Amino acid sequence: MTTALAGGLDQIVVVVAAVVWAAAAGFAFAAFRPPHDPRFHLAALALSAGAVVVSGVRVVLTARLMQAGWWFVAEKVLLALPLLLVPMVYALTTTVPALLRRDRDPKKAYPLILTAIGAIIGVACDVIVSYPVTVSSALVVMLVGGGAAALAWRLVAGGGGDRWRIAGFAVALTGVVWAVSGSFSGTPMHAGHDTATGGVSVASLRGPADPDARRYTLTAKSSSLTVGGRTVQTWSFNGQNPGPTLRVRQGETLEVTLRNELPGDQGVTIHWHGYDLPAGEDGVPGVTQDAVKPGGEHVYRFRADDPGTYWYHSHQNSSVAVAKGLFGLLIVEPAEGDHTVAVHTYGNVKTLSFDDRPPTDRQVTAVIPPGSPVRLRIADTDSTPVTLGLSGVDFRLRSVDARDVAGATTLRDRRIKLAAGGRYDLAFTMPDGPVMLSVDGHPGLALNGQTAPATGEPLDVTRYGTLPDLREDFDQEIVWVLDKTFAMVDGVPRLAHTVNGKGYPNIPTPVVREGERVKITIVNRSGDLHPMHPHGHHVEVLSRDGRPANGMLVDTFDVEPGEVWVVALTADNPGLWMSHCHDLAHAVQGMEFHVAYEGVTTPYDIGGPAGNHPA
Ligand code: C2O
Ligand code: CU
Repeated sequence: MTTALAGGLDQIVVVVAAVVWAAAAGFAFAAFRPPHDPRFHLAALALSAGAVVVSGVRVVLTARLMQAGWWFVAEKVLLALPLLLVPMVYALTTTVPALLRRDRDPKKAYPLILTAIGAIIGVACDVIVSYPVTVSSALVVMLVGGGAAALAWRLVAGGGGDRWRIAGFAVALTGVVWAVSGSFSGTPMHAGHDTATGGVSVASLRGPADPDARRYTLTAKSSSLTVGGRTVQTWSFNGQNPGPTLRVRQGETLEVTLRNELPGDQGVTIHWHGYDLPAGEDGVPGVTQDAVKPGGEHVYRFRADDPGTYWYHSHQNSSVAVAKGLFGLLIVEPAEGDHTVAVHTYGNVKTLSFDDRPPTDRQVTAVIPPGSPVRLRIADTDSTPVTLGLSGVDFRLRSVDARDVAGATTLRDRRIKLAAGGRYDLAFTMPDGPVMLSVDGHPGLALNGQTAPATGEPLDVTRYGTLPDLREDFDQEIVWVLDKTFAMVDGVPRLAHTVNGKGYPNIPTPVVREGERVKITIVNRSGDLHPMHPHGHHVEVLSRDGRPANGMLVDTFDVEPGEVWVVALTADNPGLWMSHCHDLAHAVQGMEFHVAYEGVTTPYDIGGPAGNHPA
């Protein structure tokens, strides 16, 4: 059984346990009261037996999850199971014998009611407690449970006046207040504001001015696009969807002037996704600049020393802006025989755009002379992964996220899953016959005619190429546990995508020092896929789910439900760096945070008069 399956089953079983224990307690309470219907005794006994079995299943699933790591079970072992199993033993030794004896004392139902409360608390734990279990979250759970237990006692004992009710409500209320104030919030990190005084401002970490720079102007405007037979209102750069592909030679300086001609109050920035540039050019509103308001302008400059396939996109309200079309590709050449492919969903039409042609939901065709080298630079600019396939030719996955894969071997008819925000370069020599690039199993790009989409085994990219011995020495360790729990996001309580139990901006900011090698363990406890994207750095993949990896360098990688990834980050680019899930809907629902370098500060603010909002 996979970790994801065990976790998913446990989420169902915890609810079933609560329902069955609650029903057992209800029948027991009824059985102990007039008219003492014997059918109630039977029902209570049968339901209790069933509930014991279901609780046993919970224990087994927890044991299975524990094999995947303590991160997956901490709150179950520390809170949910003790609060279920201890009253369960109490009920089995008191309520059950009383039911068998046909006792007539309603107080005898109390242990079973406590067990039901424990089981219901299990559901609450699932929704509100993540990893790590904090004292405040544990207290919330205990206080709410204590309040419920007090109310239940008043119910079975009868009378007792209002004291019990008031006490019960007071305790429960304290729990709720605690929940909102303590457990789910935290100290909002104004990135870097609290690091060293007299440090360096991110605003000063800029690229060089260069008279010979390669210059582009990108103007954000509202546009429209006809695709899949319908017209979609989009936002574009220079009226183009996708935005123009920017090309620059390795070693040149790129200078891009951003102008905003969007209507209303909609700000724009440009984030150079995957390019490890000086922090002040990173385009994150509220961290590295203020959002550029309509009528405004901002200039980005950086030296393009690292060749490869990148993309750029607005980072202001990115969950909306990118979907609407504020993105394009960035290619740092040398390039030989290269072509670009951008996958993007406009409205709800999934499209492919080949070499800056307009996007289409139909198959794209092109002709390439046999014998010529081809490099398909493919970017997934959506918030969900795509499965690519290449058939008709032997090919190599030459690079992932703009970094060459060492020892890239020949592949044929294989499928490869590309993370949201990630890029793959597929390289081959054009054969005499046709070649097909498929997207999610459908014909995408047909070169020199038709052939069937690839159906071969999916490739595990983390074990492709050579598997070297990877360095295991670290200066610092960070753990990011991804989950879906109740948390504060932007000051509002909600069901959120959390990191270490918190939502943006309350996720703790790790502080690294320049030169450090940092081990980052990413654990996905949730049932959702999270394409994680640290800015400003490529991280080295050391292992995926305990299996040693090829050390490939990535800037965006899919952490599947139940998976544990271990990556190494070399702290060689001082700044304040956003880090987030590139399913941008998840980012806006809490899953974004920062990594700060010691001594780097920012003069910018999230929110505020500039309305900065990265997600
Ligand atoms: Cu494409 Cu913050 O990223
Ligand atoms: Cu996510």
